[in-house]
Amino acid sequence: MWNRKDLVGLKDLSQDQIMEILELAKAMREKIDNKEARKDSLKKFSVLTLFYENSTRTKTSFTMAAEFLGADVNDLGISTSSVKKGESLIDTAKNLDQMGADIMIMRHGMTGAPHLIAKNCRGSVVNAGDGVNEHPTQALLDMFTIHEHKGKFQGLKIVIIGDIKHSRVARSNVFGLTKMGANVVLAGPSTMITSNMKALGADVTSDLNAAVKDADVIIGLRIQLERQKAGMFPDIREYSQLFGINKKLLSLAKDDVIVMHPGPVNRGVEMSTDIIDGDNSLILDQVKNGVAVRMAVIKLLMEGRKNNGITN
Ligand code: CP
Repeated sequence: MWNRKDLVGLKDLSQDQIMEILELAKAMREKIDNKEARKDSLKKFSVLTLFYENSTRTKTSFTMAAEFLGADVNDLGISTSSVKKGESLIDTAKNLDQMGADIMIMRHGMTGAPHLIAKNCRGSVVNAGDGVNEHPTQALLDMFTIHEHKGKFQGLKIVIIGDIKHSRVARSNVFGLTKMGANVVLAGPSTMITSNMKALGADVTSDLNAAVKDADVIIGLRIQLERQKAGMFPDIREYSQLFGINKKLLSLAKDDVIVMHPGPVNRGVEMSTDIIDGDNSLILDQVKNGVAVRMAVIKLLMEGRKNNGITN
């Protein structure tokens, strides 16, 4: 039985809790294609999205997930809100909490912002990405996609390539995947990987060929082009030549390797177009699975609130 008020990261979730989300997401995935089955028990529940950073996939899929479950959904448009008058994060959240949101889904550039709100609000909080810390539902949808295709996590070689240092997606995936018994390898330019990632239980390398050899899963990460200005890589073309995922690199992996990317993709930079659109790519499956996983997360948190008698 689910008993957590918030979902702020995968670091603190148990194996059982991760599997509970993934199993419920499987049932939710069937509802996406069946309009009649979509409406569920969440009528009269209220979901609020607060995105201090831009998003296409995460915000839209959370909104659709909540709507598919029958909940009311509202968005605080940050650019037209009193955040622009200087209202603090904590005051903003406390005011919205007072209006009766059952779940607040938050993306913020500051590490720990959702944790702070979770501690100070009665509403449940879901971290939709905080700084360079975690993006738990992205990792959960990645894990769902991997499990759907490989049927297991134990013993899989999963390689994550790119700007590891600034990637909340990589961190959440390392927490989740290593917990489930996968072997995670992080690969990228040495300016984009910190050695402390090793302490999280992943292997770390700048040797891309060795990383990809016999891989079951390859996850490419978006190169945050703003990092180029900070001198982390000299030239996009050079990055693409040295660390881009292309057919030649893919030939080193297992024949049935699956290729994933959280999006948005810089086509031809971190991944060539023939790989993005190729037979091994599950990038669009990930997007659909994201709706199912977010339905599962919303449903479990709402059930947890009911089970624990928490109201807003
Ligand atoms: N993967 C992801 O977080 O995409 P968005 O930034 O579009 O939400």
